[in-house]
Amino acid sequence: MLDREAQKAMPTARDRYTLLAQSHEAFSDNFANDVRTGLTASPKYLLCRYLYDAQGSKLFEEICHLPEYYLTRTERHILADHADEIAQLFGEEVALVELGSGSASKTRLLIEALLRHRSKLRFVPVDISLSILEESSQALLEQYREVEIAAIVGQFHDGLARLNKIVACPKLLLFLGSSLGNFERQEAIRFLELVHEVMTEKDRLLIGIDLRKHPSILEPAYDDAQGVTARFNLNLLARINRELEGNFNLAGFRHRAVYNAEAGRMEMYLDSLCDQTVPIHRLALDVHFTEGEAIHTENSYKYSLAEIGALAEAAGFGIERQWLDAEKRFSVNICRPLPK
Ligand SMILES: C[S@@+](CC[C@H](N)C(=O)[O-])C[C@H]1O[C@@H](n2cnc3c(N)ncnc32)[C@H](O)[C@@H]1O
Repeated sequence: MLDREAQKAMPTARDRYTLLAQSHEAFSDNFANDVRTGLTASPKYLLCRYLYDAQGSKLFEEICHLPEYYLTRTERHILADHADEIAQLFGEEVALVELGSGSASKTRLLIEALLRHRSKLRFVPVDISLSILEESSQALLEQYREVEIAAIVGQFHDGLARLNKIVACPKLLLFLGSSLGNFERQEAIRFLELVHEVMTEKDRLLIGIDLRKHPSILEPAYDDAQGVTARFNLNLLARINRELEGNFNLAGFRHRAVYNAEAGRMEMYLDSLCDQTVPIHRLALDVHFTEGEAIHTENSYKYSLAEIGALAEAAGFGIERQWLDAEKRFSVNICRPLPK
């Protein structure tokens, strides 16, 4: 039990928290512009990062607990089995950085492993969704008194651009949850090159990458029986209604998830169930849909082990460790930056 003096000296959760934010205007402008561009394009699309507002982040958390969504469960098991080995790759001084941290629930395994042999830890979560970033940060600060958090709300590249100003020691960068799969294959290389630029030889990048597999496992993971993923996808239209005074009738659209075997990716769409015109007042835009016309909302690329090796090499990394689950559904990869 701590005596009163020691308690007074102990920094509170608030003392251990900094939030680094972009201006709100910059965010909303991008959303408005990107919605206009996507819904006036042919074929129509919406960028998948906009799936994650406060409501979308909550729905994604629900998805992570679904029986069909093997990704979270499998990645968690792999991390649980290897967290200590990962922590041992670093000396006393290390900072943990997470791109697209979300609820950071699997991150706890690494925080605990790192704290087993260290007295304090700086955690830098980066996420576009302010609500989940703040919620998860508060929960971590309350649970781990040795943790200090510098949270960055913004896009991955905003986080990367600020990183070396706030972290001076060796770092473990996390990119979990198959988030890399949302990039086109060439974009994934360019993204990893950006990550490489902010790394030193002592840093490591841990990436969770979903593996190619049969559509009978993939498709239900993106179209579950309880309809949570459908609500997650439809929330994009609800978000346009909320933030841009759109007039989407959600009952007029249906969620669809399909595996494109040639491209090796899951694709998510919202299909219009009838001919309809949807006004979006803040954009002074009327969007016309024919029956069956789709809005493409997400790609999730799957990789073979050979493709992971080629991706890492193309971006200047060597794979130092790689773990798979017994069913070879998911991979966790520790990447070491090769000299530039
Ligand atoms: C697939 S979820 C993964 C969440 C968590 N890392 C996990 O493994 O469960 C993607 C996360 O990245 C965030 N995100 C998506 N696109 C982003 C972007 N362009 N920049 C920053 N964060 C982004 C989302 O808000 C969400 O929390």
